[in-house]
Amino acid sequence: MIRLVPVPALTAILLLLAGQTSFAQTPAQIVKERQDAMEENWTGYFKDIAQTLRTDSPDLAMVATKATQGSEHLKKIRPLFPPGTGRDVVPTTRAKPEVWTQRAEFDAALTALIDASATLGEDAKKGDLTKVKADWTETAKACGACHGGPLKSGGKFRFEKE
Ligand code: HEC
Repeated sequence: MIRLVPVPALTAILLLLAGQTSFAQTPAQIVKERQDAMEENWTGYFKDIAQTLRTDSPDLAMVATKATQGSEHLKKIRPLFPPGTGRDVVPTTRAKPEVWTQRAEFDAALTALIDASATLGEDAKKGDLTKVKADWTETAKACGACHGGPLKSGGKFRFEKE
């Protein structure tokens, strides 16, 4: 009979491997990953939503898909701000020290955006354009809780681009 690895042991091994992978990442790599992920917020999801909502007949099916995906994508950004990845360690980061000194507020701002984006997706699925427009304003405001809209702009949690 084939002896399978007991499930708890397997889980422990998988957890160990997962831990090691992220541990092997240098702070500079983590910063690069989160900058790319932030960039993708805009290029991969919210840019298309902004564009269609400016037209006379917005594509709400697309908004539903992109807003839901955008919300899921944002959840993956949360673990990319571990302590030890600020400017004192990685000079290329634009994350302000407040990310770590005011962590609860930072986390709340991220949660607000994740929720706003999910609501946008749900209302778009229902085809409610009036709500979608209001939701979009809330979503954009949620980005603004951390930093300004223009790529180089700073804000509460992001340094202005030099
Ligand atoms: C919880 C705070 C927070 C929210 C909310 C937030 N951002 Fe960011 N964003 C940051 C921080 C911090 C950085 C800087 C990351 C770094 O340089 O390490 C950043 C960087 C960026 C960048 C620049 C990436 C680069 O290469 O420098 C873009 C683009 C961006 N965000 C887009 C968005 C968009 C679009 C939204 C809303 C849909 C949003 N962000 C919401 C915190 C936030």
